[in-house]
Amino acid sequence: MSSMRVIVTGGAGFIGSHLVDALMKDKRYKRVIVIDNLSTGRYENIAHWEDDEKFQFIKADLARMDDINEIFRDADIVFHFAAESDVRIGVKNPEKLWQDNIVATFNVLEAMRVNRVRYIVFASSSTVYGDQVKLPTPEDALLQPISIYGASKLAGEALILGYANTFKMRSLILRYANIIGARLRHGVIFDFITKLLRNPDELEILGDGTQRKSYLHISDAISATMHLFKKFLESDNKFEIYNVGNEDWITVKEIADIVSEVVGVNPKYRFTGGVEGGRGWIGDVKLMLLDITKLKNSGWNPSMNSHDAVRKAAKEIYEELGSSYKT
Ligand SMILES: NC(=O)c1ccc[n+]([C@@H]2O[C@H](COP(=O)([O-])OP(=O)(O)OC[C@H]3O[C@@H](n4cnc5c(N)ncnc54)[C@H](O)[C@@H]3O)[C@@H](O)[C@H]2O)c1
Repeated sequence: MSSMRVIVTGGAGFIGSHLVDALMKDKRYKRVIVIDNLSTGRYENIAHWEDDEKFQFIKADLARMDDINEIFRDADIVFHFAAESDVRIGVKNPEKLWQDNIVATFNVLEAMRVNRVRYIVFASSSTVYGDQVKLPTPEDALLQPISIYGASKLAGEALILGYANTFKMRSLILRYANIIGARLRHGVIFDFITKLLRNPDELEILGDGTQRKSYLHISDAISATMHLFKKFLESDNKFEIYNVGNEDWITVKEIADIVSEVVGVNPKYRFTGGVEGGRGWIGDVKLMLLDITKLKNSGWNPSMNSHDAVRKAAKEIYEELGSSYKT
């Protein structure tokens, strides 16, 4: 493909907006269209591109087919990154995950089929694995999600593979570990910073603090994504699945220590104790470390480990949030 027209769903969100930055700077991509309903995404994440002719933003709900079909005309590639990204929401509102993660993915695939769009890159998640005995967990592990969110991402993967096989699409599925950095507005680091800005003396920690997971900085996540897609374009493969994560992991208690240091406070920790042996909430995977051998064999390596990524992300998010809380 000489000049590629790209749709980024969820392009106003955390990962999506950083992906948009990379695609906008890459001359191989002629047009970048963001579709987002701004439910959790923020227009300010992409506003710096609004005067660029290559860029277009369309506010639309992917869960409503009528809103999106026409937009996919003339597109070559879809980076499907829109989703309800809060894992915890499944406990109270599973319907939201059905609509934003499963119905929306079906609608994207239908719009691709009707408009003959060939490529899809899907932001899947480590949560499709659920609780694994084998750590680090390779791509061919049994997929047994323990949350509705994980189930919805797995449903997305399954739909994509079915469509790719039936309608000659090509699909790249990326199972991200915890991705962190500037613009992030959910997850443990954001939670700790906002709590400490409200009360620097005490920090509530969901669960028992021993949950241990792998974290990848957004700069590495985007660089891996662009690298893997380039490789995929050069290959003849109909579909590929990659874990995209780090080689080490870090506990929630260690994250609390780093975030407290970045914020410059020394709070008393109050552990909620959590559920089912210290999980933060029902469906919280306690131990997550992805096997990234396949990613590394493709010629890509993380530039920083989980600890450094957490520190960098905490500084970035604190800088973004700090000033508004201090005024
Ligand atoms: N952040 C992580 O650690 C992580 C890890 C694994 C996978 N993922 C996946 O990566 C993707 C991006 O996650 P994120 O962390 O950037 O979350 P995010 O909430 O910042 O981004 C999701 C975006 O999708 C949009 N969106 C949601 N429902 C929509 C709908 N019905 N129609 C149109 N737009 C809609 C939101 O407004 C938001 O801009 C998601 O698919 C998520 O499941 C994220």
